[in-house]
Amino acid sequence: MSTSPPTSARRADVPSPFAADRLPDGRRRYGHRAVVARRTLLAGVVLTGTGAGVGWSRWGGDRAAAGTDPAGSPASSPASPPAAPAEPAAAGAAAPSTTDAASPWVVVNKKHPIDPADYAPAELATVGGEEVAAVVSPDLTALLGAARADGVDLRITSGYRSREHQRAVHERAVRRDGLAAAESVSARPGHSEHQTGLAVDFGSGTEPGCGLRGCFQDTTEGRWLAQRAGAFGFLLRYPAGLTEVTGYAYEPWHYRWVGRDLVEQVAQRRAATLEEFFGIAGGTEYT
Ligand code: DAL
Ligand code: ZN
Repeated sequence: MSTSPPTSARRADVPSPFAADRLPDGRRRYGHRAVVARRTLLAGVVLTGTGAGVGWSRWGGDRAAAGTDPAGSPASSPASPPAAPAEPAAAGAAAPSTTDAASPWVVVNKKHPIDPADYAPAELATVGGEEVAAVVSPDLTALLGAARADGVDLRITSGYRSREHQRAVHERAVRRDGLAAAESVSARPGHSEHQTGLAVDFGSGTEPGCGLRGCFQDTTEGRWLAQRAGAFGFLLRYPAGLTEVTGYAYEPWHYRWVGRDLVEQVAQRRAATLEEFFGIAGGTEYT
């Protein structure tokens, strides 16, 4: 098995645009002002119309706000405004669907359940001991190999979960933590990205106690992942401070495979979430 990233990954070498809120040197990636700006803009979109049909151009205005953190020091994003908004596009083809559960660009959240409800990927592959949609396997295998080559003990703790598996996970969380706390990190059955087979929960081999916990971001593995996931087509799906957009608390362990094309587009637009990038409704309330 090759441990090198795919050719295009080496070419792109894109840091994860949905990376953890802290950079490896401890600086905050997303400053409070940037988060507030995004929330304000999201509210504008909610007021003017929501859903997959919302024009991408509506998102153009907030990008200039992404250049500073609360202390006024430069953030990780360049201060110059981004290029003019454009429709998300796949090179040489129509953009993949955001509603088809088999599409690498599908958006699943509390407003957008998986359709059909009992969907399962047509083909699964086992990587790192967990099943994922077969389409994820090459990049995920390469990512694990690259981590290993760097001496990083990255593990996979969860990949594909069927609707019934998700039901059990959710019910267990509710019994343990109560409904509100559980639902800040656990989707109801039919609403979990894990059912698409495109989501992966990563763990730390050196600090296994940080599995599914916030401290994962500070582990060697979590830091490596935040820097390198994008090069393999993965995005941090639930960034810090964006619960009102994604519906979930910060999950530094949960990454979503979307492919490198979309990673690059999201990075270019400096979007923090799929909801923001596509102009798709999210939030903490189920429909
Ligand atoms: N932890 C994510 C939100 C899920 O349950 O799918
Ligand atoms: Zn997850």
